[in-house]
Amino acid sequence: MKTPITVTVTGAAGQIAYSLLFRIASGSMLGPDQPINLRLLEIPPAMNALEGVVMELRDAAFPLLNEIVPTSDPDEAFAGANWCLLVGSVPRKAGMERKDLLDINGKVFIGQGQAIARSAAKDVRVLVVGNPCNTNALIAMHNASGVPSDRFFAMTRLDENRAKSQLAEKAGVHVTEVTNVAIWGNHSSTQYPDFTNAKIGGKPVTEVIKDTEWLKGDFITTVQQRGAAIIKARGASSAASAASAAVDTVRSLATQTPEGDWYSVAVCSDGSYGIEKGLICSFPIRTTKDGGWEIVQGLPIDVFSQEKIDVTVNELKEERDAVTSLLQH
Ligand code: NAI
Repeated sequence: MKTPITVTVTGAAGQIAYSLLFRIASGSMLGPDQPINLRLLEIPPAMNALEGVVMELRDAAFPLLNEIVPTSDPDEAFAGANWCLLVGSVPRKAGMERKDLLDINGKVFIGQGQAIARSAAKDVRVLVVGNPCNTNALIAMHNASGVPSDRFFAMTRLDENRAKSQLAEKAGVHVTEVTNVAIWGNHSSTQYPDFTNAKIGGKPVTEVIKDTEWLKGDFITTVQQRGAAIIKARGASSAASAASAAVDTVRSLATQTPEGDWYSVAVCSDGSYGIEKGLICSFPIRTTKDGGWEIVQGLPIDVFSQEKIDVTVNELKEERDAVTSLLQH
């Protein structure tokens, strides 16, 4: 048997985790022959609910599931973790300002960053899903002393998948025909889904979809506001599609990207495309043959795209400035 990979999931009794854990345990994320240890973190009031999820995981009798550890102790949760999926986050409540949300979650991600540094495996990689995910990842990264910054990611894959699905529907093709879709910036309503470099059936999107007004207008706003549309329709925020995007992100980071394509995830900026170094910003990313990742260089950015990228990067700077006291190094 292969050595199990340890995956820690926080917010493990929440709605995203209720989809995500079963996908991980079934082998969708790390492959059909890769045994998994699951370590599940929740806050004490949710431990009973988590016990129920653990019972269901056991009842599913997954051949790949080697061990399950439910806990409310971050060090126990991150012990030996190869992958940390930080899904748990405190939701915004009525009357709460964005700044209050950044502060409350900031404290959670300080503690989790420190616990990851103390307890996780040397090769740990961290994907933050809980919102505001870019800034939560920034805080965790700054507080995980000794863990290289290239191990921290924030999820924008759901936005990429939403953009691909919109483009496929408009062009009347299957979603697999749509490639090279980059989400730039923040996972928020300012994000920029870049159609200018995207392709359908190997051709530029702008050659296949002639409706430029739609591309520059409804396409972008539909992707930016899809989360709100789902809450309105379902009465709850997107969960199964978010879990699926988390699975896609880890799979993309763990396997070499097909030649010529890329995927979206927020990483620590190295200054590429003039985006301030150190921000956790979504870029077009490729996973290399040696298992590392790189920002795709040299994509043409027209005036329209640059304006959109500037707006979302400015929002990231504002969020970063609101939490400077929580950034240690
Ligand atoms: P949920 O409210 O159903 O579950 C969150 C869980 O986190 C709860 O069970 C809660 O007890 C737990 N939690 C809170 N603080 C914690 C802590 N300090 N340690 C461990 N667990 C903790 O929320 P849901 O629907 O599962 O969403 C989770 C997060 O994912 C939210 O912040 C949501 O906004 C975000 N999200 C992000 C997306 C993305 O594309 N990046 C897409 C969809 C949701």
